[in-house]
Amino acid sequence: MRLYLTGADGMLGTALTAALAEHPETADWEVRGVSVRDFDIADAAAVRASVDAFKPDVVVHTAAHAIVDDLELDPKLALRVNIAGVRNIVEACARNGSRLVYISSDYVFDGKDTPPGGYREDDLPNPQSVYGLTKVAGERLAALLDDHLTVRTSWLFGGVDERLDQVLSIIGHARRGEVSRLIDDQFSAPTYTVDLARALAFLLARGEGVTGTIHVTNQGSASWHQVGEYLTARLPGAPTPKAVPLAEWGFLGGRPVDSTLNTDRLRELGWTLPHWQDAVDRFHRSVLQGDRR
Ligand SMILES: NC(=O)c1ccc[n+]([C@@H]2O[C@H](COP(=O)([O-])OP(=O)(O)OC[C@H]3O[C@@H](n4cnc5c(N)ncnc54)[C@H](OP(=O)(O)O)[C@@H]3O)[C@@H](O)[C@H]2O)c1
Repeated sequence: MRLYLTGADGMLGTALTAALAEHPETADWEVRGVSVRDFDIADAAAVRASVDAFKPDVVVHTAAHAIVDDLELDPKLALRVNIAGVRNIVEACARNGSRLVYISSDYVFDGKDTPPGGYREDDLPNPQSVYGLTKVAGERLAALLDDHLTVRTSWLFGGVDERLDQVLSIIGHARRGEVSRLIDDQFSAPTYTVDLARALAFLLARGEGVTGTIHVTNQGSASWHQVGEYLTARLPGAPTPKAVPLAEWGFLGGRPVDSTLNTDRLRELGWTLPHWQDAVDRFHRSVLQGDRR
């Protein structure tokens, strides 16, 4: 099997590269990871040349611009990277007969009237931000291929940059004795990239049997303030986080108030991710040990 991975240097791409090497059924797959250092995903000719040369059986498309406020300020960037980029990948998959696994987001939902147990795969998207809109567009483009799987996930952590990783930021603030300011009235499932990547390796090993849309997150749901309280209770002397309402944060665009995803479909396939508290504990330990995996 030949797997082509976009966004290979990103938070999820890095974890997926490691998980594929560890999973018994994907360990011997030939993996070609590309990042923005290789080419801009919006460059159709560059995508064509790179994918056509590799002739993948499966493409996992994680590359995206995922900083929500940036895209409110610059919708053209959203169009270029998150929509034209997906179009280029879909066209490359169609030319090469490749299966596409597209990574999407809980931000496709409005989070206003969340069903008990969380949004299911066939609930109607209603994005509240330019970012969410581009992820819905990406899903629709991916669905043009018969052999595609859209994986929606939420609130990723497991990275190396405090500015992009809320859990790492909470740990950093606590260790420096600084007070984290954290939203206490917005909810979803914080999801560890290591756990998401293992689930993706499981789904990839299952092959063409799984198509359409699937939700993959850690179990449970929380506000970032609850995550902060959980972590600081485990760090002696760490200051208690300050609760900030979503409406006072000053975000651009809209945010879903509760975008928790229902993961029953994944469970029925035979895989469940651990609870977010377990995931946060493991990530915290890896940070303390200087090993980010
Ligand atoms: N982060 C979350 O909370 C979250 C939640 C739900 C879904 N998702 C989705 O999960 C996927 C992975 O997200 P992530 O958190 O791992 O993001 P990330 O760390 O920012 O990784 C995205 C990767 O895409 C690359 N990229 C950005 N613009 C590009 C371009 N024009 N051409 C080629 N590559 C480009 C980035 O490169 P540089 O870093 O060098 O710019 C980065 O390596 C995304 O599709 C995102 O929408 C994320």
